[in-house]
Amino acid sequence: MQKSKDIKRYKIAASILDCDFLNLGSEIKKIENLGIEIVHLDVMDGCFVENISIGQPVISGIRKFTGMFLDVHLMIKNPDRHLDSFIECGADLICVHAEECPHLAWTLSHIKKSGLKAAVALNPSTPVSIIENVLCYLDMVLLMTVNPGFGGQEFLGEMLVKIEKLKGMLKDYANYSRDYRNIDIQVDGGINPDTAAGAVKAGANILVLGSAIFKSDNPGEIVKKVSNCFLQTI
Ligand code: DX5
Ligand code: ZN
Repeated sequence: MQKSKDIKRYKIAASILDCDFLNLGSEIKKIENLGIEIVHLDVMDGCFVENISIGQPVISGIRKFTGMFLDVHLMIKNPDRHLDSFIECGADLICVHAEECPHLAWTLSHIKKSGLKAAVALNPSTPVSIIENVLCYLDMVLLMTVNPGFGGQEFLGEMLVKIEKLKGMLKDYANYSRDYRNIDIQVDGGINPDTAAGAVKAGANILVLGSAIFKSDNPGEIVKKVSNCFLQTI
């Protein structure tokens, strides 16, 4: 009973960065039919990261098409300037990079006040201590397990200790603040059936999968293997 309750915290989020954009609707249907609940939307501006991807019009279109949870990962300069437009286009969660937010407490509380879930992403070189004073605003922390910008990169194994460190920090925070909400730990970059188990064991409970799903001939098998990692870890 407890196990079945716990397993619900473990989720796959499908990043569409490497999907077939000419057939976006059927690509979204495909992941929905695989039982995935979260669409991870990578917004890139060519400044914060080298690549340029999708923006508000595409997200609005996806919102009209599906009831899936839309997790918007903003890899853009000065995200504060664009928060309202992403809120309006139907995101369920907005994730900003700490490296781009000088007023992180304001940014996160603005997202929360708009009725969305709020998250912070950290590049591999950014220490978890940067979010120590904003945990009360957070629903999720995203740890980049590659340097952001592109799909299909290799998982950085040295991030496993960082996941553990964050897990410990969240536990300490819950104890001293008596804020017992579950703050999710998402990992993003290079996640596949080979790297998933280590990330989950270290403390991650939401795994972003991009190329592992969209470049696979058998995405159902990939989802099954990653879901098995969840079952084996809890
Ligand atoms: C990288 C993005 C990721 C990426 C995931 O900057 O934030 O979401 O697209 O793709 P894979 O799973 O292929 O690393
Ligand atoms: Zn992402």
